[in-house]
Amino acid sequence: MKTFNFQILQTLFLVTFFFNHIPLDAQTYGKNGMVVSDNILASEVGIDILIKGGNAIDASIATAFALAVTHPEAGNIGGGGFIVLMKSDGEVTTFDFREKAPLKANPDLFQDADGNLIEGSNHETIKAVGVPGTVAGLYLAHQKYGSLPWAELVQPAVDLAEKGFPMTWGLYQVAMRMSELDDSYDIMKNYFRNEKGEIIQPGEIWTQTALSNTLSLIRDHGHNGFYKGPVAEEIEAYMKAKGGIITKEDLAKYTVIERKPLKGTYKDFEIYSMPPPSSGGVALIEMMNLMELADLKNIEFNSTPYVHLVAEAMKRAFADRAEHLGDPDFNPDLPLDRLTSKAFAKRRFDNIDMTKASLSDSSLYGQLYDGSSTTHFSVVDKEGNAVSLTYTLEHSYGVKMGSSKLGFIFNNEMGDFNPVAGVTNSRGQIGSNPNLIAPEKRMLSSMTPTIVAKYGKPYLIIGSPGGRTIINTVFQTVLNVLEYDMRIDKAIEAMKVHHQWLPDMLVYERHLLSPDTRDALEQMGHQLRGVNNLGVLMGITYDPKLKVYVGAADSASKDGGAVGY
Ligand code: GLY
Repeated sequence: MKTFNFQILQTLFLVTFFFNHIPLDAQTYGKNGMVVSDNILASEVGIDILIKGGNAIDASIATAFALAVTHPEAGNIGGGGFIVLMKSDGEVTTFDFREKAPLKANPDLFQDADGNLIEGSNHETIKAVGVPGTVAGLYLAHQKYGSLPWAELVQPAVDLAEKGFPMTWGLYQVAMRMSELDDSYDIMKNYFRNEKGEIIQPGEIWTQTALSNTLSLIRDHGHNGFYKGPVAEEIEAYMKAKGGIITKEDLAKYTVIERKPLKGTYKDFEIYSMPPPSSGGVALIEMMNLMELADLKNIEFNSTPYVHLVAEAMKRAFADRAEHLGDPDFNPDLPLDRLTSKAFAKRRFDNIDMTKASLSDSSLYGQLYDGSSTTHFSVVDKEGNAVSLTYTLEHSYGVKMGSSKLGFIFNNEMGDFNPVAGVTNSRGQIGSNPNLIAPEKRMLSSMTPTIVAKYGKPYLIIGSPGGRTIINTVFQTVLNVLEYDMRIDKAIEAMKVHHQWLPDMLVYERHLLSPDTRDALEQMGHQLRGVNNLGVLMGITYDPKLKVYVGAADSASKDGGAVGY
């Protein structure tokens, strides 16, 4: 007769107890690399590429294509974005694959006969689609800095679309909402359904055959798989059928630009971020310069003076953004050196009154705070190459239109242009010249993919979605790490505020700011509005003592996660 082995049972008990009771850390550690994205499956795809010997650019390309399948709200091939790359030798570069206005676009594209903005037209109609840049951007980044074969980087996304993955509760909630859309949003209405027309239930496998076919063409033909051939033909045919203006010529002419990064400093740190057509880097550096002048050692995080000071910095940076910024290829004299200089920050800092809120009028010289769908991921590899990549469809699921034959959704990025020259109003519509619509122009963005370096090595890799709130949530997270010495998960979760100059509204995370502080801020003249959340940040820091990368995904992300190895 066999006797029962109590030792095995005891070991099993101890192992189970240990794993169930180990305090869970909201941070993830990786000695050899890390990927933090808005979808854990996409982060795993990126890590697999690193394990296979790919570099940070390879992993980013694979992650970006995977997100187009698993996080279609913002992960995309129908939108555009930016990469900031810091190579292990310390050199930093950026790729601008922002969408462009089609050749047939003109400054009054969204205006009625009286020159007024047709409400909603710049976001909700097929003309709101900009010429997509994502595939071109990823392709050029691969040609210049990739190491594994292109096809190996696209294949995981093809597999995820073809073989499917389990429907998450996050996606299921969207599926329920989208099923109520009217028929003009044909692709979205049916996006999350099976062949029988039923909505895929949480846990059921969701496959995307049309998207997998499109991704296969991109896998096999690279850039041309999207911008020429059957995909380009179908994009043009769809646009024609729906009254859109993008043609094959627009697609054939689309180019990516490798741009010099914007560089700022904060104490011992170097900050590298995206230059125009993003406004993110300029505003981030301007605000960090302002903060460097403040006595932050004596200003407690989350106190009234802290919130007041960051709000005043935001108003100034957003006023400057509105007045000066647009596509550099159409505005050769953008005052970037001035706006990011320490001397300019000093002048801006000196007119902050620590006892009362300044008014957001044209003497400070922003569009309405809008939730937006953009997504950010951060990557680092074992050589120390780091990638900060933010890309977008503009609104959640972009314009919610696209050809069912191609299986992907188009952006509505044309809404990021200033729609009516000269009309700047308290609702946040901006009318300054640098960002008016013109054929082939890139619309101003707020995306702020950023890498902070110390002694020439990546120290913090960070970014977020959130429309104009991106700039401010990235700014506060950078400040939290560099000045308030917070670990990355805490820095991401800590209370954030947002002010964008116009409207004159200080938006705060309602459960994280005390009633006393709110009262004190109101007495200083701030107009407050509480929201549940600001930002969905994805960050990596380097811990020099442990010699390890530490990553954290914002808890606001439904399906996100950090994976290290
Ligand atoms: N779509 C958001 C941005 O580019 O700022």
